[in-house]
Amino acid sequence: MKLQEYRNQFPILEEKVHLGNCSQAPQSVAVMNAMQEYLDNWRTVGMDWSFWMEGVERAKASFARLIHADISEIGVVNSVSDATSMIASTLPHDEKNHVITTVGEFPTVGHVWHAHQHRNRIALDFVNSDDGFYTPALFESVMRPTTALLSVHHVAYYNGAKQNLKELAKFAHAHDSLLFVDAYQSMGTCDINVKELDIDILVTGNLKYLLGIPGIAFIYVRKSVAEQLEPTMTGWFARVNPFYFDSTHFDYGEGARRFNTGTPPVLAAFAARGGMDLIYEVGLKRIEQRIDELSAHTVAGVKARGLNLASPETIPHKGASTAIRVSDSHDVETFLMRKNIIASARGDVIRLAPHFYSKEADIDSALDAVLEWTKL
Ligand SMILES: Cc1ncc(COP(=O)(O)O)c(C=O)c1O
Repeated sequence: MKLQEYRNQFPILEEKVHLGNCSQAPQSVAVMNAMQEYLDNWRTVGMDWSFWMEGVERAKASFARLIHADISEIGVVNSVSDATSMIASTLPHDEKNHVITTVGEFPTVGHVWHAHQHRNRIALDFVNSDDGFYTPALFESVMRPTTALLSVHHVAYYNGAKQNLKELAKFAHAHDSLLFVDAYQSMGTCDINVKELDIDILVTGNLKYLLGIPGIAFIYVRKSVAEQLEPTMTGWFARVNPFYFDSTHFDYGEGARRFNTGTPPVLAAFAARGGMDLIYEVGLKRIEQRIDELSAHTVAGVKARGLNLASPETIPHKGASTAIRVSDSHDVETFLMRKNIIASARGDVIRLAPHFYSKEADIDSALDAVLEWTKL
């Protein structure tokens, strides 16, 4: 099927230009149908835990397939914040508990590391970069024998700068550290092979380019690492048998099962599977190629209109979103919304975030509207 033929999967595209995928993807028929399965079962069966558990397992399988991992390496939580807290809760006191991260992380990740430093649970270093790219050379001076984790994003939420994960994994491992990746802004836009990239831990939610809804996040932990970690953020679904029902008995489930907590986000898991299976069907390699084309069109359009580009210009070094510096990004977002164009404001930038179904004309109309705003 041609990419443009998928447009009728997204009813909102009949009325609006949707370039808000870096924040919330449009509703698709596939996701609505998957959610309806949950609702129908609830209405007709009434109580069906095995159907719920099967739904969560199917979502885990869909996620595992997208990142080339095994289902036993996947845990389910509610948000990337939860996933980061979960990993932070595995770090030992006073031993190998130094974390290095970047000022370019989505703030929630920094906040979690900060909270653990604040309680003297970990030692923490933040690294800054002038151009938004985080290379091993930037981390070299703060790396220590006690460094447990290098925590980086794949694609920056602010301007879409795309980090070289393979290079960072090699660097982290050479220093006996693990690589923790927040892939929220890249999952669904490109083929991420956790094995080839040698990533130890990867976290993401589903409401952006994976086309899902809020309430669920996935955590991948490499098999050989998972069982060495003992999260203190835990719950009954992290046990060997969640249905054993003995509060005095404690164990850690096999593989990444230990990275679950309480009752999983079942409805969000149904939605997540619907979105991820649509992404799989379209094909990540094809999506990546199309997103690169749209990125090149956007960057050229920003420059042609004399707008202030905040994203990298070289396409392989950027993700799907393109950021434009403006004096009042929230006002631009509202101005565009009045023209039925969805874009997303963050700090001093307005972000245009197309997906595989987007058209060049969508980008042009958004850029024309941003230019119009700058001339008001
Ligand atoms: C890169 C990145 N990480 C994390 C988050 C937030 O994650 P959560 O709200 O699931 O904790 C966002 C949200 O925009 C993001 O862009």
